[in-house]
Amino acid sequence: MDECNLDKNEHLNNSAPCVSRRNFLLAGASTFVLSTMPGMAHAFKLIVKEHSPLRVASLSQLTEGNPVEFMFPLDNPMSSFTLVKLGERGAGGVGKDQDIVAFSNLCTHMGGPLNGSYKAKHKVLGPCPLHLTTFDLTRHGMVVSGHATQTLPQARLEIMGDDVYITGVMGLIYGQAGLI
Ligand code: FES
Repeated sequence: MDECNLDKNEHLNNSAPCVSRRNFLLAGASTFVLSTMPGMAHAFKLIVKEHSPLRVASLSQLTEGNPVEFMFPLDNPMSSFTLVKLGERGAGGVGKDQDIVAFSNLCTHMGGPLNGSYKAKHKVLGPCPLHLTTFDLTRHGMVVSGHATQTLPQARLEIMGDDVYITGVMGLIYGQAGLI
């Protein structure tokens, strides 16, 4: 029997959508399946805010393992990014070897500063000085360990000639009410 029929009068009085237990469980199962399929979770969360391109580095002056920090789109610490040539392909990377990536310097847990914490040996940013979260820069800033549960916002980069530009940000930077 459809459980909604049992509560028909209550449903009409409250003008609330009627969802039977069976339909609720089926919807929950669908959500679980989608969120556990490889790549699907990212597909849902990858929202990009586009900006006018800002030049952030010279391609010819970037060397493996030596990060460059810059501010974008605002000139304040909340807009701090680390750009690095990983020396191996990184997801979302640009350049001949697709190994140039950039990420927000604000930890997604509680905004701890990740400035200066790049570890070339493991291609990670961190550990965060507050609660030790570390982020994998070869995998879209995925959490390796620590308290954070969200990936680091990644810069969308483009190369024009010898210049590396940032053109947008993928993900929500800690402390911001919306995409910046
Ligand atoms: S603020 Fe970075 S791990 Fe808590």
